[in-house]
Amino acid sequence: MALNMTFRQLKVFESAARNLSYTRAAEELHLSQPGVSMQIKQLEGVVGLPLFEQLGKKMYLTAAGREIYAYSKSIGHMLDEAEVVLDELKGVQTGRLSISVATTASHFATRLLAAFSQQHEDVIITLDITNRASLREQLEANRPDMVIMGQPPEGVEVESEAFMDNPLVMIASRNHPLANVKNIELQRFEDEHFVVREKGSGTRSAIERFFIEHDVSFHTGIEMSSNEAIKQAVEAGLGLGIVSIHTLELELETSRLQVLDVKDFPIQRHWYVIQRKGKRLSPVAQAFKTFVLEQAKEFIRLS
Ligand code: PGA
Repeated sequence: MALNMTFRQLKVFESAARNLSYTRAAEELHLSQPGVSMQIKQLEGVVGLPLFEQLGKKMYLTAAGREIYAYSKSIGHMLDEAEVVLDELKGVQTGRLSISVATTASHFATRLLAAFSQQHEDVIITLDITNRASLREQLEANRPDMVIMGQPPEGVEVESEAFMDNPLVMIASRNHPLANVKNIELQRFEDEHFVVREKGSGTRSAIERFFIEHDVSFHTGIEMSSNEAIKQAVEAGLGLGIVSIHTLELELETSRLQVLDVKDFPIQRHWYVIQRKGKRLSPVAQAFKTFVLEQAKEFIRLS
């Protein structure tokens, strides 16, 4: 036997059963009292049993009424849930996304965003590329939806998830005397000069921490705020460099630079996707986060 009840009848019944009153159901649903009464009569007709009984002035649910009430509540919850899911889907196609990434992460983040925007054509994306110190300030002010950086910042409450390794390697020009030496001791570099990133860069502080931990002195030479500039300087013989392997795709392909075989290297770091703690991500931001966690690795090209 098919029960030919409608969502509308169930909705009206659910309200009347919860309130145990046709009048209150009518108010809640902006219907007339006879309108409510008619919907419930029709439902009773479909079910084939009375759903309410009146004892004195008070209304009660019958056994059949209690059964239908339980189902009408679950169906109501499922419809509410469907509405949320559909809203989220609509949001994903039309939202705005504001992402800030560490200078070093820009080497893969641009490809990542390009792929994401191909899948979500109506999303308007803004990308800010800056160093670690400025990312920390942005997180504190809760400006971007999300940040991609080399390590969660200190002193700001954030939620962070690591999604990929970020090894820092030592680079030299191809004709450097150490270019083909194996397993070079770290002490060997005490007298060398390094072309380094500016203070405030995550790469820079990770390198300094590493040398302190290994009790080896570290001499900075020229400072530069761009990884590209550092690679060119190293290639031109201005010093050695230590950079994330993710900045090296092209140079390794064309062998313009040499990664040195240094003991205890690479310096192990990770990439994190980070948001301010307690931030409610928009549907599009949530979709981007999932995309990063699941697919970022595919956008790294190393020879
Ligand atoms: P940066 O990035 O060196 O470009 O600041 C790496 C990091 O966030 O640690």
